[in-house]
Amino acid sequence: MPRLPPLPDLDWPDAENRAAPFAREHGDVYFSGEGLSEKRAVFLAGCGLPEAWSGREHFTVGELGFGTGLNLLVLWDLWRRHRPSPTARLDYLTFEGALIAKADAATIHAPWPELAALSQQLLASWPDRARGFQRIHLSDGLTLTIVIDDIAAALPQARASADAWFLDGFAPSKNPAMWAAETLAHVARLSAPDARAATYTVAGDVRRNLQAAGFTLAKMPGHGRKKERLEARLTAHRPAPGKPPKRIAIIGAGVAGACAAHAFVRRGCDVAIFDRANAPGAGASGNPLALVMPRLDAADGPTARALIEAWLYARRFYPTLGPNAAQSLDAIHLPAARRNSCVPPSCLPTRRWTKRCFSHPTKASAISAPSLFARTLLSPA
Ligand SMILES: C[S@@+](CC[C@H](N)C(=O)[O-])C[C@H]1O[C@@H](n2cnc3c(N)ncnc32)[C@H](O)[C@@H]1O
Repeated sequence: MPRLPPLPDLDWPDAENRAAPFAREHGDVYFSGEGLSEKRAVFLAGCGLPEAWSGREHFTVGELGFGTGLNLLVLWDLWRRHRPSPTARLDYLTFEGALIAKADAATIHAPWPELAALSQQLLASWPDRARGFQRIHLSDGLTLTIVIDDIAAALPQARASADAWFLDGFAPSKNPAMWAAETLAHVARLSAPDARAATYTVAGDVRRNLQAAGFTLAKMPGHGRKKERLEARLTAHRPAPGKPPKRIAIIGAGVAGACAAHAFVRRGCDVAIFDRANAPGAGASGNPLALVMPRLDAADGPTARALIEAWLYARRFYPTLGPNAAQSLDAIHLPAARRNSCVPPSCLPTRRWTKRCFSHPTKASAISAPSLFARTLLSPA
């Protein structure tokens, strides 16, 4: 399987007039009718939002088919206006096989000025074209987690407890994989007790597969030209998700301890850090500089993916901590030994190309003073 996920093959009937792009491979449009009003009626109202998150400090929405990102934008817009509390968090877990290029997403969002500010923020953090998990922190307590891979490979790797689902995978007659029994069984597995799901289709196979997965269904009057839409509720037993710990103790105030503390504080935990020194980053992280760079791995195994995912996360996360924590710059990385300079990763196209690239110094792009970095992470906001 190629390391890079595919780009969708798009056709543009009339983007300025809010017509949806058409995916040639699947023979279907990304949304129908006017776009936003359908999304609000089918997915937001269909999942009982915003009432369903009232009083909640944490709510998770899952989606099959990230597409243009417009579902996320209409949800985010609703969340900003009806956020249950200033500290409430919204997690958005979405699955996508062929990520739309950022420039195309910008063209698709442009006809909706009401979403311009959110679109701008999303485009500034648009996911990278890489297989696997990417986590992107947006404003208003919203975190986007996107899994880029074919749905059959992506779903089994995911862990979640979603309260609501937007099932949006092109028409089932044109794209049955997104509605298959195995797919919807995973949706149920990744759901919280009593989770809700919504979609625009009432196709027989979809209804049967949702019921087999443990959902109870209701056909509702459709939006626009569609006669009916579907609302579903998970009535099969699901174990209640374990309560996350509130108080966390971390031993070590270096870069790893500080990153862990930052992540727990983001989740609303009380964190205490223990270190024998009296300042963060005074141990091994007291080195004057640390170079953060991607490590290319010949195999496409779990380690290689984790390293790429960590690199992509770091590139987005570090700059949010301000100019003192980390700087982005070009650095020349000289291989320490000749044997390290010519590893031909199988993900790269040709041996000739690989040799040329790896016998020369490679470029890295982020560098930080680790002790400063740890201190920034641990300083009160
Ligand atoms: C109707 S579009 C989703 C629209 C999107 N929710 C939005 O707000 O724009 C369906 C999406 O499902 C994705 N998709 C289709 N088949 C897939 C598969 N087998 N695995 C993963 N994603 C798939 C397509 O690439 C497409 O982006």
